[in-house]
Amino acid sequence: MSSLVLGIESSCDETAAAVVRDGREILSNAVHSQISLHERFHGVVPEIASRSHLQRILPIIRSALSEAHCRVEDLAAIAVTHRPGMIGSLLVGLSAAKSLALFFDKPLIGVDHIQAHLHAAFMCEPELPLPCLALVASGGHTALYRMAAPARSERIGRTRDDAAGEALDKAAALLGLPYPGGPSIQDSARSGDASSLRLPRPMLGPDSLDFSFSGLKTALLYHLRGSGLSRPMPELSADQVCDLAAAYQAAVVDILVKKLRRAAEQHAFASLAIGGGVARNVLLRQELTEDPVLSQLKQVFPEPALCSDNGAMIAGLGHELWRSGQASGLDLEAMATGQTGR
Ligand code: KG4
Ligand code: ZN
Repeated sequence: MSSLVLGIESSCDETAAAVVRDGREILSNAVHSQISLHERFHGVVPEIASRSHLQRILPIIRSALSEAHCRVEDLAAIAVTHRPGMIGSLLVGLSAAKSLALFFDKPLIGVDHIQAHLHAAFMCEPELPLPCLALVASGGHTALYRMAAPARSERIGRTRDDAAGEALDKAAALLGLPYPGGPSIQDSARSGDASSLRLPRPMLGPDSLDFSFSGLKTALLYHLRGSGLSRPMPELSADQVCDLAAAYQAAVVDILVKKLRRAAEQHAFASLAIGGGVARNVLLRQELTEDPVLSQLKQVFPEPALCSDNGAMIAGLGHELWRSGQASGLDLEAMATGQTGR
């Protein structure tokens, strides 16, 4: 008999719910993005995020269920993100999931958000050759993993400062481009010249699989305002903005690709997967496909909607955990850090 799992996600600035059949077949994937609420701050404001989740959580769950033509009674389990993320935001999804689980007597499955990003690759490719080298790059996280099996991964590298998406968001703010920076830098970069400015590619020594992105935005800031920050922010022409966006995007992508290549040279992998909002980036996908080392691996790039925050990946991993008997109690806690840290 087939099993339906509801996945609920509210860890950051997307309120999302989805119904997935047998861990793979996505019957609905409803997402409400809060971008319009946070754009004028160039980043997510926790208080605003929690309030918006509160307003949206029930309508989103209702629309996920109705689009999937399913009632709560039909569900095998209710999966919910309980870490890592902003506590006030996590609590909204978690409280909704607990209420439904209690009222309808359904198993509650607590899901780690990063593990769910990793799991998206298994939803696209159930026969994923293992071990798999995986990158999760988003606004809050950037890390490399060795995936040995579904729901079994080990972190092998992580950012020591900013996340890749955060670096793009901050650069966009400096260039006067809209939030979130990833898509707006990608759009501007299309007509820009990436060789107009050579930005640093911090590698943190010859063997490190860790990342550092904070120097990139500082280098861009110094380029714009002089090394003593003595100059006022210059007026940039549209062409200059496109050139700087192209140079910046090239640097971020280059760092990600170089670290993935280094990981593939250090460890034996059979496949490569990417997840998180930055994994939507077209240049990143193209460079990974063309890389002489990484193209030797079976590459799995989930569709863009499965890369950004969504409920389907929560339901997918929730199904896997439910199948292996890993239900949570109603005392499941919201936690700021994840299974493998932030
Ligand atoms: O996974 P996600 O939706 O939410 C977080 O958990 O953070 O990722 C959002 C991040 C933002 O920093 C955004 O600028 C970046 O992903 N992003 C992109 C693209 N689309 C979103 N970065 C590069 N290229 C894109 N096309
Ligand atoms: Zn995420």
